[in-house]
Amino acid sequence: MFAGETRGFFGVTNSKGRRYRKRRVSLRYRSSHPRGKLESVAAKLVPTAAAPAAFVIDSADLSQFRQAVQEIASAGYSETLVRDRLGLADIAELRWKARPVYQEERLTERDPLALAIELFLLQGAIPAWELDALLSAPSRDVILRTGILSFDPAGLARANASLFPVGDRLIFSDHAWHKLPHPGYRTVPSDQVMFVGNDSRWLARATVRRPVRASLDLCTGSGIHALLAAAHSEHVVAVDINPRATRCARFNAQVSGATNVEIIVGDLFEALGAAGRFDLITANPPFVPSPLDEFKFRDGGRSGEAVQQRIVAALPRYLAPGGIAQIVTELGEREGEPIVRRVRQWLEGAPMDIHMLRLRVLSAADYAIGHATGDGDFGVYLESVRAWADNLRAQGYARVVSILIAFEWSDSAFSSPWDRVDVSQPPRREAGAEVEAIFSRERMARNPRGSLDGRWVCRAGPVAVFESQILGEPVRAAARATLLGQALAVEHQIDPLECEILYGLDNPVAVAGLLEIAREGGIGESAVLAAIGSLQRRGLVNVMEAGLPPAAGR
Ligand SMILES: C[S@@+](CC[C@H](N)C(=O)[O-])C[C@H]1O[C@@H](n2cnc3c(N)ncnc32)[C@H](O)[C@@H]1O
Repeated sequence: MFAGETRGFFGVTNSKGRRYRKRRVSLRYRSSHPRGKLESVAAKLVPTAAAPAAFVIDSADLSQFRQAVQEIASAGYSETLVRDRLGLADIAELRWKARPVYQEERLTERDPLALAIELFLLQGAIPAWELDALLSAPSRDVILRTGILSFDPAGLARANASLFPVGDRLIFSDHAWHKLPHPGYRTVPSDQVMFVGNDSRWLARATVRRPVRASLDLCTGSGIHALLAAAHSEHVVAVDINPRATRCARFNAQVSGATNVEIIVGDLFEALGAAGRFDLITANPPFVPSPLDEFKFRDGGRSGEAVQQRIVAALPRYLAPGGIAQIVTELGEREGEPIVRRVRQWLEGAPMDIHMLRLRVLSAADYAIGHATGDGDFGVYLESVRAWADNLRAQGYARVVSILIAFEWSDSAFSSPWDRVDVSQPPRREAGAEVEAIFSRERMARNPRGSLDGRWVCRAGPVAVFESQILGEPVRAAARATLLGQALAVEHQIDPLECEILYGLDNPVAVAGLLEIAREGGIGESAVLAAIGSLQRRGLVNVMEAGLPPAAGR
């Protein structure tokens, strides 16, 4: 027997009933594994068929499986290191069509990190001796036993699920890229578990991470948001209608050791019975306005709103006072109809404040092109484009917008419910504190006790201002301002007076002093106070206590 072999795993049926057989030709090789093994039993094992992972683990295997995941993590398999290794500005920019470029330019040095990326993120295949350079023998065996890895007929190791780095966590789910040839994988039916996509990452980054009693993650899929919430919640409930998804979420919870996550199969809130209210509700629903009902994780009916509308309508029943609900979605936009008006109608009059962050906009044509399929036949592809475009036209959608929406109960003591819409690039890092600050600044701005009398004002940090003018036309300058250094690079439209005030704040200035200067320039007091309030509400300036001029107004 070679060093590192495990007899129980040699040419027999494993605990999941999957049969392995000996390869006829014995492969001998020199392993670069740090443990110095020379030969591998893995090289001799070929499963009879690859299959999507079952996401089931024997409790007896759990601790060794955790060790296997730890070995992968120790190879440097985290969001930032994987991102840097692949030369990406954000891991969300990973593209399957660029796989040959990553392989040729970034993964030629076959260190354990390159092998983990190849195997668990790029849906690639590696020979047995490389697998042994990544995993110790017991870890390799347990990961084969659970069906997360198998050997293809050519004797190459392939993953039957991907392992997505999310911050410093690792989340198993089905593969992201259908189009990559992968034996067995094309058989994944409509119950595919949603991979960790850009929308999953945007919601994860935007979620407010304050310590809470109870969290609810609807449409949990792999369980990504439930697992992240588990770190700052006493108890988390995760719901998905797809039993395969709940298996995957439970698998991730088991592997990560989270014991405070309750995972339920069911249709949204119906599964909750008489549950109480939640301090944090997250949801990444199936939101795609689709002519098909092909994927449970994707298709949201013809309008895209079938599931998300029900979620929003039930928030008043389930969101605790002081809590926050955060949804990532796409919404079709009709000419002349603000999206936020539609979302407010879904609340059916419940007094909630709404913040919307528009991240990306695609024209209906681009959206149809992006979703159409044709299996290599151009005629079929164009027909598919037509079907997608017809559906969007039937809904009256001119474009489709990617949006993060946050809801909180209104503070009725100070104001009626407000909504605010901002535009930002998708967040590339944690942005929950910034979302929280948007709500608290909006409240402060509506608080009549929040007078500016005797206050000082300074810029909240370095601000980039972009001005544009049409020379030769009497058109007033339009300007946009962005506070730099934020995870959410929100672009604010500012008027000329607001722009003027921002320019004048190289040092902290007393509000009274600003009013004085404005009076000399013939500008009314109320206009200046309104401009300061508007800049403060949008986080571009800070207003400080009387007599305490702040130190750092750049
Ligand atoms: C877009 S995926 C999101 C998965 C995961 N939360 C994420 O962010 O990666 C949507 C999920 O909603 C689930 N789903 C669809 N309809 C549902 C319903 N009526 N009730 C509960 N879950 C549903 C799907 O099975 C799928 O797992």
